This record gives sequence, C-alpha cells and structure tokens, in this order.
Amino acid sequence: SKDPLREGRLGDGRPPEVWSYLSSREADRFIGDADILVDIAHLLMLEKQNIIGREAAEKIMTVLLDLHENGLPDSVFNEKFEDVHAGIEALVIEKTGIDTGGRLHMGRSRNDEVATCARVRLKTGMAEIMAGINKVRDVLIEKAGQNTESYMPGFTHLQHAQPTTLAHYMMNYEQVFTRDFERFGDAYLRLDLCPLGAAAFASTGYPIDREYTAELLGFSGVLENSMDCVAGRDVFIEVISACSILMTTLSRMCEELILWSSSFVNFIELADEYCSTSSIMPQKKNPDCAEIMRGKAGSVLGALTASMTIVKGLPMSYNRDLQDLWPHLWRSVEDVKASLAIIAGMIDTATFNTERMNEEAGKGFSTATELADVMVREFGLPFRTAHGITGRAVRMKKIDIDTLEEAAVEMAGISLKKLGMTEEDVKRALGVAYSVNERSATGGPAPEAVMASIAGKTAALKED
Ligand code: ARG
Repeated sequence: SKDPLREGRLGDGRPPEVWSYLSSREADRFIGDADILVDIAHLLMLEKQNIIGREAAEKIMTVLLDLHENGLPDSVFNEKFEDVHAGIEALVIEKTGIDTGGRLHMGRSRNDEVATCARVRLKTGMAEIMAGINKVRDVLIEKAGQNTESYMPGFTHLQHAQPTTLAHYMMNYEQVFTRDFERFGDAYLRLDLCPLGAAAFASTGYPIDREYTAELLGFSGVLENSMDCVAGRDVFIEVISACSILMTTLSRMCEELILWSSSFVNFIELADEYCSTSSIMPQKKNPDCAEIMRGKAGSVLGALTASMTIVKGLPMSYNRDLQDLWPHLWRSVEDVKASLAIIAGMIDTATFNTERMNEEAGKGFSTATELADVMVREFGLPFRTAHGITGRAVRMKKIDIDTLEEAAVEMAGISLKKLGMTEEDVKRALGVAYSVNERSATGGPAPEAVMASIAGKTAALKED
C-alpha cells in the first residue's frame, strides 16, 4: 500500500535514509496490536455517534477484525510509513477503498492515537511486571520460612557487623519489593485514563463520545485536557522511573549473589542453568545472569535519563521528539519483566551454604554489641562506657572477663568483676544465637520476630 499521507501537502520523493530516520517502526512493534483495538473502539464510537455510515463502518470493521484475529502483516511496519498508525490506515484504505477507509481517521490524530496505544499496551506490561514482582516476593518468603535459624553475618561497610539470619535478609528484600509493587500500582492508576479523542491537541468538532471509547478500551475514565493528552509524558516517565528503582534493587541483590558465589565468601552456589563457563578456563562457573542483570540496571537507568532529557525542553504540545521516548519505555518494561523472572528462578534454585554462613556469623567480634548491651542491662553501666570498654578489649584482640576487666579499670575506673560479671556472662553474651534471639523487637532478626513478619507478609501478598 502507498502512504496516503504523502499525496497532499508534500511530495513523495524522500530518500530511504529519511524514511528510516523518521519511522518509529521498531518501537511500534510493541503497540501494533493495541492500535487495532484503538481503531476498533474509535470506529464503534464513530458509528454510534452517526459520524460514519453503517455500511462504511462494517467494511472497515471486517478488515480490523481480520487483523485482530490473524495479526498484523509485516507491511504495516514498513519504513516507508512514518509509523504503524499510517501503515494500518494505508492497509485499510487499500482493502476498502479511499471512499470507505478514508473515513476512519475522522475526529482523531496520530498524536492521541499513539498516546492511547502506549497506555493500552503499557497497562498489560505493568500487570505482567506486578505479577513478576509477586513471584519474587513469594520465593523470598518461602526461602525465609526455611531459614529463620540459619545464622549469617550481617555487614555494614562490608565489615562483619552483627549476626543475623538468612530469613531476616530475605525478608528485607521482600519488603523492598512490596514497595515496588505499590509504586507500579500507583502509577497504574494514573495510566488508566484514556487520551483518545484529543486529536492533534485541540480536540475535535465532531460529536465524539470520549467516555464511550475509554470504556470500550477498558480505561477507568477519560484523561481530560486535550493538550495534556498528546503532550504529557510524565506518567510514562514515572513508569520508567519505577522500573529504574526496581532495577537498582535487583542490581544490589545481584551484586550480593555475585559476591556470595565467589570462593572467598562461598555462601551460595547458583544453579548451573543461571551460570556460564569460560571458553578457555575449563573450571569456571560464572554468575552471568546476575551480571547481565546488574548491567541492565544501568541501561534502564540510562533509559530514564534519556526520556527525561528528551522531554524536558519541549514546548506544548506535540513535538516529534516524543517519538524517541518509546524505545526507552519498552526496553525498560521488557528488561524488568525478564529480570524478575530470572531473579525468581535464580534464588529458588540456588543452594545456600548455611554452614559457611554460620561459620562467619560470629567472626570479627560481631557479637560485641550484645556484650556491651549485657553490661548495660545486667550490670548497670551507661551504654557509652560499656561501648568503650568492649571496644578497648577488641583493640587488645581478646574478649574474656580478664581483658574486659583490665579495659574497664583503665578506661573508666570500674571493676566489672566487683559488679558481679563473670566469664560465663561474657561467653553467653558473645553467642551468635543469643545475640540474634535477643533482637526480637518488631522487624528484628530473632526467629519469632521474622516468623511474625513472614505471617504478615504472606497475608499481604495474597491480597496483592
Ligand atoms: N509515531 C509518532 C509517535 O510515536 C506519532 C505520530 C505523530 N506524528 C506527527 N507527525 N504528529 O509519537
């Protein structure tokens, strides 16, 4: 089919490099099917409002239904059309004649059309992402349930800090992903309004029914101001932003999986299917999926930066620059969707070396905080004094009652022994399980606290 847009104001003598430069055909592959739905809704509305005659409407509908059922031919994505909207219109005209097909585009523009298609398609993508997030939450909760007493070192500054459990660690990420779910859900509400009928930006003089097309397309309502309908991109940017935030978390998680897989740390063995080997070093098992995901986090963040930069200098209303935003949007959605599926599988199939974790849990004087706390709770010292005494013993590289006594006398003129503190007290306070179990306030790592959290989050996940 030839391009009906090139028969009026402009000649059709464009060199191919201009065709391909202008065309959004690649990104339009994401919205081609949505465009047929938008065409169908628009046509039904035109007919209901007596803007188009019954006979013409039926002929066009036959073509549209055929495209809906059998899929779009590749020809509509030909670069000689500026976009899929022009490609589909050309096909409709070719099949029904200009006298019929030439009536479909009444009361609309490609500007409101593309904004509508993007929202229709993105709603599906968002629903898939939200389901993907919940799958990850599910895996994390399951792993947590199996590991409430799997002790591991907790770090700050990547230094052994205080012991915790693998369950507490898993539930930390579960809590972040709950917020991601809410973020997408929140953006979804703003996305769920229909821009169709805004036309180029100034609405239309045809007696259209915007509420009707919005309802047919499954939107919860109409996006009101017609200029905003075609020019506003903040909601799309919001979604890319939610994608970037999610990918940032996934990237941190992958960073840890990579670190934990290293033979220095050896906390985890990822399943073979998520790893690659070396073409030269036969022994290698590399965490490539985690690395690709860490890389994609950078690309999605780049997509956010690109999108905001594309939009930030544009005057109202539509400018063609906006077309360049779509590839960033779709790439973000696809990367997030794929990454969620991978991370869920990767965690589900990983072997956690809980023995190794346990071995490290008490290293680096990681229970010194609890020891200081015992001096406070049981022997009445001010926390700062107990902190100093314990720190001084660590500096002396030994924690037993004699070293602590020496530190206490030297530093504060206090005798712990006179206060009744014994070697027994020291040993008890330094125990990994003891330290973790004492931390049973809401949200803490003690098994009872994590179990309560697991119960609450399991219920919340069911709701979502
Ligand atoms: N393909 C364009 C886009 O993706 C929509 C068409 C608007 N074209 C125009 N010349 N006003 O934004």
